[in-house]
Amino acid sequence: MHYLNGGLSLLIIFLSITEGTATNNLSSHIYESTDFGDYKGMQLCFLGTSSSIPTLRRNTSCLALRLDRVTYLFDCGEGVQKQLYKTPFRFGSIGSIFITHMHGDHVFGLPGVLSGLGMTTNKSERINIYGPEGLRMYIRTILNGCFGRVFSKYAVHELKIGKKPKAGRKRTKEADRHEDEVAGQDFYASSEGIWDIFEDNQYTVKAGLVQHSVPCWGYIVEEKARPGRFSVDRARELGIRPGGNYALLQQGHSITLKDGQKIVPSDVLGHSRRGRKIVILGDTYNSSSLLMAAKGADVLVHECTVLEEEASEAVFRHHSTATMAGKFARAIGTRCLVLTHFGCKFEGRMDHVQRSVKAAQIAFGSKKVIAAKDFLAITVCQTDEPS
Ligand SMILES: *[C@@H]1O[C@H](CO)[C@@H](O)[C@H](O)[C@H]1NC(C)=O
Ligand SMILES: *[C@@H]1O[C@H](CO)[C@@H](O)[C@H](O)[C@H]1NC(C)=O
Ligand SMILES: *[C@@H]1O[C@H](CO)[C@@H](O)[C@H](O)[C@H]1NC(C)=O
Ligand SMILES: *[C@@H]1O[C@H](CO)[C@@H](O)[C@H](O)[C@H]1NC(C)=O
Ligand SMILES: [Zn+2]
Repeated sequence: MHYLNGGLSLLIIFLSITEGTATNNLSSHIYESTDFGDYKGMQLCFLGTSSSIPTLRRNTSCLALRLDRVTYLFDCGEGVQKQLYKTPFRFGSIGSIFITHMHGDHVFGLPGVLSGLGMTTNKSERINIYGPEGLRMYIRTILNGCFGRVFSKYAVHELKIGKKPKAGRKRTKEADRHEDEVAGQDFYASSEGIWDIFEDNQYTVKAGLVQHSVPCWGYIVEEKARPGRFSVDRARELGIRPGGNYALLQQGHSITLKDGQKIVPSDVLGHSRRGRKIVILGDTYNSSSLLMAAKGADVLVHECTVLEEEASEAVFRHHSTATMAGKFARAIGTRCLVLTHFGCKFEGRMDHVQRSVKAAQIAFGSKKVIAAKDFLAITVCQTDEPS
């Protein structure tokens, strides 16, 4: 750098400072955390943000979504294990891994993570892996070929394209199943073209097929609505004593007071509050199939492989520019947009990254755009907005 003139090196120093310290407020309840420790029940941790190959500054695709009791991984490029060691969350907290598509930059880290889980943790629950057809065989072949073990056991659930086979048809042969593999489920699209793949009492996960050169999915993780806030003042007015009755009402049960007065939850609870919604798309040049399902997201994670200058090649290359990402962000009305999966031409070029962020902001019609980098953390707090 010594041979650069003073002005240029100053500019470079300035760019790297703004890159490193910005604490971006993305909404009243979403912001860029300075570290992974600032955890409010939901956090996105970018572990790899490069497309195709790892570069000096970025590892290949992997994104961790930390939830209350579990961490989800989305894609699993090379180097993920080491990236995980640099985060404070436990390897053993990984409950499910979602694969968007079978390209190497999204799956080459998977066998390592599965084997590593067995060696570093005492995980007793099995790990669930969701992804395209072929994923089950890919993992089986590598683990079998390398004498790999997954002590926690694992299941692979495949998202199938086409019609669900009629009941009674024989399942495909499972003879070569790995010794640590338990039978996975096959999922088929609903009539709306959405794969409903997971639901518990707190979250749902859905998937939708996006357009890329190979079958590729986007995932939508949505928290269920929470009951409204309990109004102690209102409860007092109605003559309800603090204690068990408060809890019953909060849990949605009606109660009858000693004087025979019947109280229903809505007498003391405010409007129910919407859950948080995260949309994580795989590689794509068109994700219009998810327009409806992705509506109203808190965070949209969208690829940005192609430079604005090369926009005319984007569809042909099956990837997106920042402008394309911004348009989708606008169409679904997301609160904020995170660009990731940067092509190699972005390497070492903060000017390209910043221009892409600007282009996305214009297409989105909002300033709430951020360029991911490895170890970026985005915290999403709960909101009191009505559901
Ligand atoms: C972030 O900005 C929003 C307005 O966009 C504001 O309401 C909120 O209070 C800010 N939050 C923080 C933590 O600064
Ligand atoms: C990529 O991963 C390697 C291995 O964890 C790590 O040493 C390196 O810091 C990562 N790169 C960046 C830019 O974070
Ligand atoms: C796993 O659990 C066993 C017994 O519960 C314990 O002895 C061992 O140290 C644990 N290993 C790890 C890696 O936590
Ligand atoms: C995306 O694909 C849909 C469905 O094939 C099509 O109607 C739409 O025009 C495409 N959008 C763009 C921007 O090409
Ligand atoms: Zn990719």
